[in-house]
Amino acid sequence: MKKYFVIGNPINHSLSPKLHNYWLKQNNINAVYEKIKLEEDEIENFILKIKKQEINGCNVTVPFKKIVIPYLDSLSLEAKQTKSVNTICFNDGQLIGHNTDIFGFQKAINSLNYKIQNKKILILGAGGVVPSLIVALNKMEPSEIIISNRTSKKAEDLKIQFNQINIVSWGEVPDFDMIINATSLGLNNETIDLNTSKIGKDKFFYDVIYNPKETNFLKLGKKMGNQTENGKLMFIYQAFEAFRLWHGVEPSVSEKILKLLDHD
Ligand code: ATR
Repeated sequence: MKKYFVIGNPINHSLSPKLHNYWLKQNNINAVYEKIKLEEDEIENFILKIKKQEINGCNVTVPFKKIVIPYLDSLSLEAKQTKSVNTICFNDGQLIGHNTDIFGFQKAINSLNYKIQNKKILILGAGGVVPSLIVALNKMEPSEIIISNRTSKKAEDLKIQFNQINIVSWGEVPDFDMIINATSLGLNNETIDLNTSKIGKDKFFYDVIYNPKETNFLKLGKKMGNQTENGKLMFIYQAFEAFRLWHGVEPSVSEKILKLLDHD
């Protein structure tokens, strides 16, 4: 039986096993998918097991998406552009690092029929997921991407990597069409202190967080009469693309799948 994992720390919260095991069963694939918490000094050995094919592949989550890179033989273009790997495949004796978060975000936005083209996008945060958001957004041709992060150095580092982005101070709210919460604020019911006085209607509030289903950030957007969406579809579609890369099959994304991940 083939074996796949998601590695991270913490990992308890991960819903990837639920989703992948459902799809494996649905597609009659003789494999199992588990979560495993690793320490940084265990990463090299774990990846070696994929090289030896004791393990067939893995997903990588926080905080290891960059740390795994030196142990791989090559990277997909997207993984290179973001310096972020969330899926490891083994092909022709080679360990290949992929980034399916980009696909996940783009596909989620497309399936909502939201048009990024010529829109002003404000991203709150500059952590691990943000390079993937920027690469995905750039494919959809926004007029501007603005980053606001508590620690300005991290936003400035991002600008070295993606020189077309603009930066504003944390707490500043410039004019935007779509605002994305890419911080961890909201995971534990925190609020983001946003100056809402200049935020008009017809905005799109998007949160990368999907558990809880509706963060205070999304509650605020909704209360102001704006469109809101959480990160559930992005999560599902990054898993969809990893599944396709490993098994060569496109799994179903149905109401049942959406319900499978509901848990609050
Ligand atoms: P990492 O920064 O290690 O990649 P992450 O979970 O990917 O971790 O990112 C966390 C994001 O949430 C960061 O943008 C972080 O801001 P800092 O760069 O200033 O740390 C943001 N964040 C976390 N707690 C926050 C808080 N209390 N107020 C504002 N931003 C916060």
